[in-house]
Amino acid sequence: MNTPCRKIVVTSALPYANGDIHIGHLVEYIQTDFWVRFQKMRGNECVYVCADDTHGTPIMLRARNEGITPEALIAASHDQHTRDFAGFEISFDNYYSTNSPENRRFCNAVYEAMLKSGAVTTRSLPQLYCGHDQMFLPDRFVKGTCPKCGAQGQYGDACDVCGQTYAAEELVNALCAICGRAPVTRDSEHLFFELEPFRDFLKQWIPAHTAPDVANKLLEWFNEPLRGWCISRDAPYFGFEIPGHPGKFFYVWVDAPIGYMASLQKWCEDHKQRFEDWWQNPQAELYHFIGKDIVRFHCLFWPAMLKTAAFKTPDKVFVHGFLTVNGEKMSKSKGTFVKARTYLDHLNPQDLRFYYACKLNGTTDDMDLNLADFANRVNSDLVGKIANLASRGAQMLNKRLDGLTGSMDAEGRELHKRAVAKADSIAANYEARDFSKVMTDIRDLADQANQYFDAKAPWTLVKTDPEAARQVMTSVLNVFRVLAIYLQPVLPSFALKTSRLFNEDAYTWEALGSTVENKRINVYEYLATRVEQSAIDTMIDASRLT
Ligand code: MSP
Ligand code: ZN
Repeated sequence: MNTPCRKIVVTSALPYANGDIHIGHLVEYIQTDFWVRFQKMRGNECVYVCADDTHGTPIMLRARNEGITPEALIAASHDQHTRDFAGFEISFDNYYSTNSPENRRFCNAVYEAMLKSGAVTTRSLPQLYCGHDQMFLPDRFVKGTCPKCGAQGQYGDACDVCGQTYAAEELVNALCAICGRAPVTRDSEHLFFELEPFRDFLKQWIPAHTAPDVANKLLEWFNEPLRGWCISRDAPYFGFEIPGHPGKFFYVWVDAPIGYMASLQKWCEDHKQRFEDWWQNPQAELYHFIGKDIVRFHCLFWPAMLKTAAFKTPDKVFVHGFLTVNGEKMSKSKGTFVKARTYLDHLNPQDLRFYYACKLNGTTDDMDLNLADFANRVNSDLVGKIANLASRGAQMLNKRLDGLTGSMDAEGRELHKRAVAKADSIAANYEARDFSKVMTDIRDLADQANQYFDAKAPWTLVKTDPEAARQVMTSVLNVFRVLAIYLQPVLPSFALKTSRLFNEDAYTWEALGSTVENKRINVYEYLATRVEQSAIDTMIDASRLT
């Protein structure tokens, strides 16, 4: 079991400081957390870094509307995001901000390398400009009529109705989304990061570092010359000014992924580590978890940026799909656009982690949170099958048999052996992010243990042959303990309570090698409780309002 310890850096995409964390985001942060906790349990050195993505026009405008500075706005979001993540037991090693001195330094270094490589070009671009607001309008700040299908109220990048993409200037009757006035077209000089020089590199890199469906989609772009990427934005803009170009700022998507490095750098400083040993070390591994909507940034621009600046590119980019609720896109009016905070006000975070684990399989497919299925799985599987083993076993042992485990009987030992024998395949499924398979295995083992328990009927046995009953309870508790160890990456507090029940330290994978026999157990703390439909209903109602 003891392979040499791996050094692994893991990231989740940086959430926009502009909005609250919701259960869609959590699909990503929760699964990354499963994977990181699994790696740590296996004895690997694993660092999970993330940050708020703080720059860009929306943040600048929102701060302006609220009459505060962007810095004050992003500080408030940082607090809120950190609290939300902690509420779901998502344990970053460092949660930073892209508006940091480290990030500015990395950003300038990458830009300098881009310049040196000759991949930066300058071109003049026509763009919509609002004379009233005195600013160029990003696509999302222009609304008008779709030039193709005539649908009204469409944004400046794509039509929600017919799916057509276009440039903002092509919108019919375009209006500034801030003040409602008609913008004019104005030219402005912009900087472009040319991708064509990276064609061969990317064509090889993409299939080697992404799943086949992701790669195939990306490679479609390669049938034509790769278009340069505009990396500058005009003032006013909340971000980093581009050295040598007063009044021009790095587009937020330039400094956002660089924020992964800045967050790692900060972690290294805080922990007396060298950045080079983690990011630049060919023995170390680097993984990004992202949603399918931001693949282009992570698998096209980002590797090219890193390559130019001689930084190591990620070993893999793990792409997940989107969350639907009850089979549909999350919707505010249906109350299914549930914020992390609203969920925490009404339900238990462990239940969402459990449900997501049951559904996530490491593919790019969208994932549905069906609320009836959610309640059912938590109640019947987590509470009824898994936690029930411990609550029945431990409570009876404490009540009737002085809280002392004995040894397992032959059948129980066999069952325990079968549970431990699953370790390698469960580990392989964790490694492959096929969490749903992990959960199926755990559920199957719980079924077997419940069958054993019921067949032995220790509640009657205890009256006639208490020592035999003790053996049954010992067997059930030992199988349960194995399940809790397997579950620890998914349900950290559940596993911690289990280790306390047995007077043990927090589990590592090695704990599978021991048993709890002839030992006193502790008082039983509730490990899981039923989800009530009424709590779900209240949460959905509350989500319509917030
Ligand atoms: N700020 C950028 C990422 C920069 S990374 C250098 C961003 N932020 S986001 O807040 O919109 O999204 C953060 C992550 O959450 C993304 O990976 C995104 O795909 C994921 N999700 C956001 N909504 C989601 C769902 N409804 N379902 C699943 N994942 C979703 O993009
Ligand atoms: Zn305007």
